[in-house]
Amino acid sequence: MPLYHKLGNIPHKRHTIFKKADGGLHYEQLFGTIGFDGMSSLMYHLQRPTMVKEVGESKDVSPKTAVEYNIKSRLLKGFEVPPAEDYLDSRIIVLFNSDVNIALAAPKTSMTTYFYKNADADELLFIHKGSGIAKTMLGDINFGEGDYVLIPRGMIYQLQFNSENNRLFITESYHPIYTPKRYRNWFGQHLEHSPFCERDFRPPENLNPIDQIGEFTIKVKKQGQLHELIYASHPFDVVGWDGYNYPYAFSIHDFEPITGRVHQPPPVHQTFETSAFVVCSFCPRLYDYHPEAIPAPYNHSNIDSDEVLYYVDGDFMSRKNIDQGYISLHPAGIPHGPHPGTYEASIGKSKTEELAVMVDTFKPLKLTKDALAIDDGKYYKSWLE
Ligand SMILES: [Fe+2]
Repeated sequence: MPLYHKLGNIPHKRHTIFKKADGGLHYEQLFGTIGFDGMSSLMYHLQRPTMVKEVGESKDVSPKTAVEYNIKSRLLKGFEVPPAEDYLDSRIIVLFNSDVNIALAAPKTSMTTYFYKNADADELLFIHKGSGIAKTMLGDINFGEGDYVLIPRGMIYQLQFNSENNRLFITESYHPIYTPKRYRNWFGQHLEHSPFCERDFRPPENLNPIDQIGEFTIKVKKQGQLHELIYASHPFDVVGWDGYNYPYAFSIHDFEPITGRVHQPPPVHQTFETSAFVVCSFCPRLYDYHPEAIPAPYNHSNIDSDEVLYYVDGDFMSRKNIDQGYISLHPAGIPHGPHPGTYEASIGKSKTEELAVMVDTFKPLKLTKDALAIDDGKYYKSWLE
């Protein structure tokens, strides 16, 4: 989301003397992506952000292939992924390729003993159940049910939950995640036809820099490994920052659906884009209003992309036997469509309460053994009468 934002205290000029209360200098850090070509922010630390005291153990957390060449439609029962105390332990990758990891997580406790950074991937956390605060280097983001929390690669963060009952649908992207270009003008402002605008995005707030020296564990995910680095200063010691590269939240409930006289295609639901996949939000909306419209989607061939739908709430109009937290996977190369009876049943209906998140990947997805453990195994035959 390329929008300029500023929080806390910063000097008038970049790269100039900016003194602390004790007369010492603040330490400037440029936080950018795509080399020096992408979005960046300039932040000002109380301590050097480079003071590594020790490098500890590394752990392999890369997804392991159980099904390399998937041609079956699948139905994964997401809520069967067991809760875990720790946030990072709770993240279970079910689908992946070289661009993206799709994970489910049911963490029970807040992160208190360490901080986390994904050095390789932007993280899009969809909060299905639960609420709390995402504490980051650039400030706090309050989150609740229905929020997308987008954390750009390299951002150190810590999640605090308000209860033990949390369910997250996580997309880790090796390509930067942006709002779709066609929604923005040549200056980056969202246009009138966009289903959301700048007011709907919630940047970090409440910058409370912590000036502490000691031992601070930052778990860094890089190349499928989780490394433990011990730093000498608290990572949340930023007194001010400005720029375009920062975490933010966007509620799926703030997505304004685009409707029509006849069935509208999935791109009207698009919320985010990357060079390797898109994310769409299917939200409660009025149905098509042509007197002879069939609101359920036509059968379609997603010949170039694997379609992942994560079901959040409401009745999903085109599918039977779908529950909250389920994931359907429709692999590229074979057509899919509404279940028997749902096409006909949708005629004359005036609205839908369905709420779902779709991730369409341009490369085929592989399944992990954790996906097979929650796979219903028979979904691919469910279009037979
Ligand atoms: Fe589809």
